[in-house]
Amino acid sequence: MDSSPHYSVLLEESVSALFAEQCGPRLGGPRSGGPRSGVYVDGTFGRGGHSRAILNALDNNARLLAFDKDPQAIEEAKKLAAEDARLTFYHGSFAELQKALAEKNIAAVDGILLDLGVSSPQLDEAERGFSFLHDGPLDMRMDNSRGQSAADWVNSVAEDELVSSLKEFGEERFAKRMARAIVQRRAQQPFTRTADLAKVISEANPAWEKGKHPATRAFQAIRIVVNRELSDLQIVLQEALKALRPGGRLVVISFHSLEDRIVKRFFRDKSKGKMFPPGMPVTEAMLEKELKLVGKAIKASARELEENIRSRSAILRVAEKLSQ
Ligand SMILES: C[S@@+](CC[C@H](N)C(=O)[O-])C[C@H]1O[C@@H](n2cnc3c(N)ncnc32)[C@H](O)[C@@H]1O
Repeated sequence: MDSSPHYSVLLEESVSALFAEQCGPRLGGPRSGGPRSGVYVDGTFGRGGHSRAILNALDNNARLLAFDKDPQAIEEAKKLAAEDARLTFYHGSFAELQKALAEKNIAAVDGILLDLGVSSPQLDEAERGFSFLHDGPLDMRMDNSRGQSAADWVNSVAEDELVSSLKEFGEERFAKRMARAIVQRRAQQPFTRTADLAKVISEANPAWEKGKHPATRAFQAIRIVVNRELSDLQIVLQEALKALRPGGRLVVISFHSLEDRIVKRFFRDKSKGKMFPPGMPVTEAMLEKELKLVGKAIKASARELEENIRSRSAILRVAEKLSQ
């Protein structure tokens, strides 16, 4: 049952950022224009908060293609698509952007929004197995209809790979100790529940931080591995660049530094263009810049933080495809 309220993060800022001249005040541009035409992509439908807001801004001939890995999210998208023929959906990763566009006969798009990470329902429903607070089956798959669950991975991964994953994707200082404890315990009894894993990880953590569950970083790492979150992000950024029409916007909301670093570097590299040896005479055209940065990174306003504490780690970046 999906009873948890879902709050769409940076809703106004991200949706207005999608529409070229129609920048929200915090992005620095003037507000103008009526309903927009064109084809847009919501790469992370979730419960459809951003999609609904995008649809509200579109005219009758515009289209919105929504992606989600999560079967429950796709059920919601199906319901909305039954009410609004401008919406179509794709069950799968946004990393399959080109494939999905080809299937839907879409040659190019005018804007792409990615609101990364897990949704509130995924986090709050113990049955989805993301939570160290509420015991549930150790699953953590956004797409729980296929692929390897967290339990499959935790119970079979080599110890050195476990260490490097906890370090790389959780920035966990005590990765070695945690991996050792996990490997020792699973030899006696494999993990099946989130609370059990959280307990073993917590006991292996010698330095609990105030206000932070001692298994937070390790759970983040496992979730990222199980859902291939960072590799999907790297792929979709490249694919988005190919899919966008010149002038089209790419709007990304990240929730942790690993995601944001990937987005920030991609935007920076594509907006600087090609690298040449120092001293070589270089014209603007030779740089072949592909993106223009739009405004600075945006964080949730004080009002939004009051309403939804989960938005505290959200960071929004916007870039525009340049014509070549
Ligand atoms: C933060 S929520 C999005 C919430 C949504 N914007 C809303 O307003 O309801 C992230 C959603 O993206 C989905 N997701 C995350 N990574 C994905 C990927 N690589 N491909 C497709 N969906 C993904 C998750 O399953 C989750 O439903």
